[in-house]
Amino acid sequence: MKTNLVLFLAAGILSLSACDSSQQQTGNSDSTSTDSTSNMIPSKANYQDTVEGKATDLYVLKNANNMQVAITNFGGRVVSIIVPDKDGKMTDVALGYEKLSGYQKANEPYFGAIIGRYGNRIGNAQFQLDGKTYKLAANNGPASLHGGPTGFHARVWDANQVNDYTLELSYVSKDGEEGFPGNLTCKVVYTLTDDNAIKIDYTATTDKATVVNLTNHTYFNLNGEGNGDINDHILKINATKFTPVDAALIPTGELKDVAGTPFDFTKPTAVGERVDADDAQLKLGKGYDHNFVLTNGDTTMKQAALITGPKTGISMEVLTTEPGIQFYGGNFMEGKENDGKAGKAYPFRTGFCLETQHFPDSPNKPSFPTTTLKPGETYKTSTIYKFTAAQQ
Ligand code: BGC
Repeated sequence: MKTNLVLFLAAGILSLSACDSSQQQTGNSDSTSTDSTSNMIPSKANYQDTVEGKATDLYVLKNANNMQVAITNFGGRVVSIIVPDKDGKMTDVALGYEKLSGYQKANEPYFGAIIGRYGNRIGNAQFQLDGKTYKLAANNGPASLHGGPTGFHARVWDANQVNDYTLELSYVSKDGEEGFPGNLTCKVVYTLTDDNAIKIDYTATTDKATVVNLTNHTYFNLNGEGNGDINDHILKINATKFTPVDAALIPTGELKDVAGTPFDFTKPTAVGERVDADDAQLKLGKGYDHNFVLTNGDTTMKQAALITGPKTGISMEVLTTEPGIQFYGGNFMEGKENDGKAGKAYPFRTGFCLETQHFPDSPNKPSFPTTTLKPGETYKTSTIYKFTAAQQ
């Protein structure tokens, strides 16, 4: 394993020095270099800047199988995930931008981002805790979505690349930021493993009672980013219930059986098979944009979902300690992101998110698993995205 890694790194260095800088800037995937992945990742220079006084950069994790994951500390965003397909061809399965500026646009759809302090919506952008009402910054009609307009997705995280496999990101969210109480000290660790998995470990502590719900908002396309819609992906979600929403996409509080509805993914089913069915919940979400209920209080690491892109044979297994998972099918994508990697645009439903989480609007739903964090407690969750491809 070690020798392979040394050989791979040596090959990487040789091929990088063989590339001219213009090649690296383009992010062109049609590489002729010996290391087929070296120029599939945007140039580091495209991400090196200073935002609100802090340096931004692009960090690349690599494993013994040539899998690579590029992450910027602007929003802790996963920019590229390069994995082998069924024929061994390296394929980028994460949607993202060629340059940092892509992630800084207004209404950018959270590509690759760490989401916080609260993943998904809090109804009417307010909640009560210990008898006090906290008013949040509304950014989705009357609701707070993904932590507010300048949530964790738009903050510069302190980065420490420990080695080829591990990137540690830290951020302290100030008391009152986006309306949330308490100074929240957060750490998110991305670890790439030699079994082609990305593990994300989230921890947080607070100095005042608050609510926390951290997740990752990577848009995946397992047929390769920019390679058509995701309707043909075969999805299994290990959930017998989901949380139906109202017109503002806030959970009603009900846990509804998936059986007999287009939300039943307990058996592997193509995403597109029922997405446009005549179903009130699908109409509200403009397709799939719902939280699925994974457990009843079980916080052990378990498989939440398994999804395959048939064109590449690449499968992704999602495992998590979280009680819920949001399946978002890219219904609000408009193809305006034409500054995608290598100049690609990402139209309607060409990416999906599987966001492990506590349920949306939990601070206002006492029957949902709690998202309250108190001083002296440690918020701790983990999620794994593991990639395989049936070799031919
Ligand atoms: C939400 C969608 C939202 C999207 C933003 C998802 O997590 O569930 O409703 O539009 O994020 O890109």
